[in-house]
Amino acid sequence: MERVGIIGGGQMGAGIAEVCAKAGVDVVVREVTQELAAAGEARIQKSLERAVSRGKLQQADAEAAMGRIRFTTDLRLMADRELVIEAIVEHEGLKVATFEELDGIVADDTIVASNTSSLPITRLSAAMSNPSRFLGLHFFNPVPVMALVEVVETLILDPEVAARAEAFVTEVLGKTVIRSKDRAGFIVNMLLVPYLTEAIRMFEQGFASKEDIDTGMRLGANHPMGPLQLCDYIGLDTMKLVADVLFEEFKSPQYAPPPLLSRMVEAGLLGRKSGRGFYDYS
Ligand code: 3HC
Repeated sequence: MERVGIIGGGQMGAGIAEVCAKAGVDVVVREVTQELAAAGEARIQKSLERAVSRGKLQQADAEAAMGRIRFTTDLRLMADRELVIEAIVEHEGLKVATFEELDGIVADDTIVASNTSSLPITRLSAAMSNPSRFLGLHFFNPVPVMALVEVVETLILDPEVAARAEAFVTEVLGKTVIRSKDRAGFIVNMLLVPYLTEAIRMFEQGFASKEDIDTGMRLGANHPMGPLQLCDYIGLDTMKLVADVLFEEFKSPQYAPPPLLSRMVEAGLLGRKSGRGFYDYS
């Protein structure tokens, strides 16, 4: 697979585009406005500069990687792509509308994937005329650092498509793949999100301070970040959307978003991206 398209140039889309370009793949990133496309480009540029400054990447390789990425607002540039990965906001309606538009553009044999954190892949695949070529490719944030990709299989996925996608992710991108059946949250978020929301509940109930909750899991379980730090890192809006999807799927209180999470999102306290969440980043 030599030509990949990424829909969405946010935190995840930019990260996926970066790892593809560093692996020598020709990449087109589509954003909805010129401003968002420029922001996606700046995000990748900054990440590559960081890798150069840490001695992990040669300047010439960073420039070559940047040279392999084109940014556009025109979805029609996906027409010659062999693999298209959608990484837009975690909103089912917007994703479905994007896939419906994409369906009229891509070739019959193009593999289409969603990087959704939690939405059932089968529901998204219904937007395409050939759902057997549609799968979940779930990357983790920060994409250049995190070694894992979940390959999510629907009941109607063509096994050859899954094998090609897996080969691309492992052999070209150098990631480790785990395979998940298609249910909300897949493997990792099904386990991670209840843990994170439980930490929010613990803080909300005044059981412990946020610092102690985070220190507890950093030093007591050797996690790189405490749960409330990780919520801020993921983005509280994304956390809420994922918890909503899990709750809708399983109808179990353990997946319900805690009221504090909802209030924080409504107040615009989204974590690092907005400058304030459980912690202040200003
Ligand atoms: N892009 C590229 N590289 C980055 C990076 C980024 N955004 N952030 C950190 N790095 C690299 C650094 O360059 C450094 O590399 P080096 O050691 O080779 O020089 C290394 O990562 C460590 O970075 P730092 O020393 O700056 O900071 P930390 O040691 O605190 O690590 C972290 C930062 C990698 C983010 C670490 O805290 C971590 O792994 N946190 C947990 C992340 C996690 O759990 N992600 C999953 C979220 S859930 C998800 O994505 C699913 C979704 O569906 C919700």
